[in-house]
Amino acid sequence: MIYNFLMQKKEIVNALNSEVILKDGNFKNDFFEIADNVRYNNLGDGVHLRGLIEFTNYCYRNCYYCGIRAENSNTERYRLSLDEILSYAKKGISLGLKTVVLQGGEDLYFNLDKMLEVISEIKKLGVILTLSVGEKSYKEYKAYRQAGADRFLLRIETSDENLFKQIHPNSDFKNRINCLYNLKELGFEVGTGVMVGLPNQSVESLANDILFFKSIEADMIGLGPFIPTPNTPFENEKFIGIELPLKVLAISRILNPKANMPATTAFESIHKNGRIIALKCGANVVMPNLLDCEINKKYKIYKDKSTTPIEAIKEEIISIGRVIL
Ligand code: 5AD
Repeated sequence: MIYNFLMQKKEIVNALNSEVILKDGNFKNDFFEIADNVRYNNLGDGVHLRGLIEFTNYCYRNCYYCGIRAENSNTERYRLSLDEILSYAKKGISLGLKTVVLQGGEDLYFNLDKMLEVISEIKKLGVILTLSVGEKSYKEYKAYRQAGADRFLLRIETSDENLFKQIHPNSDFKNRINCLYNLKELGFEVGTGVMVGLPNQSVESLANDILFFKSIEADMIGLGPFIPTPNTPFENEKFIGIELPLKVLAISRILNPKANMPATTAFESIHKNGRIIALKCGANVVMPNLLDCEINKKYKIYKDKSTTPIEAIKEEIISIGRVIL
């Protein structure tokens, strides 16, 4: 079996079906080391830190998997003020971070005017700004870009239109794809990604996801395990474990040698060494949360979300011989 960026669907499916063994506390299979080498050869040992500011957990959508879905009345809602957002951004800068990621639910309170104010005020601080605020019109994305936003994260969640419909009420798969192409056209660096282990998600569908990342030439790929979460329609769905998401991460790295790929919080939330394991299987980015722990906990998209402080994250990265960028 040859693992390289030319892998076709059938080979990817075989790889995703291959066995993972646990040896001396490490997950091993044929291609995890190859993914780690591809990461090293293309991107070196540097790990980019991106400071995450989850600025609102209000959301008008009702995604069946997500803890901050509109109908979850068990979620305590919050919105940060402009001043609070800026003070978290400044905290990130003082910790040496060069990028902040403004992520939130799809909250109509943050209309175009409010978003433009937030974007331009953050950009005055001299940081790179990534937005992750969901599906918007071309006009809005364009205005965000003109106000200075540099990058945008919008996970496709699954590239399988049928599955997409099963996990998103009133969903519009084509619009989501369109959003990604609009963002690219507007000159954003674009990130996308999926959840691994969704109900009714096959390995064939995951292979298509990996090929989708390549076909759209994603600059960033963020993926992690689906975590069944209380007070959501999917609370009793099966949890897949860490192995399959790791395989998807590693193969995504092999097919997308230069993409920035975070060791996502979801990995860390389901395994005590999840972040390190992901960093050894192709990931080269970590997104430490800048919020105070009490607010961070309220942004509960899934259960048991890990809230490791940034200093501890830095130590972990150094402990495996990697370099903080
Ligand atoms: N399990 C894992 N990931 C989730 N997300 C939302 N809910 C869950 C869940 N229950 C992910 C989605 C979203 C990102 C911010 O968090 O992929 O895009």
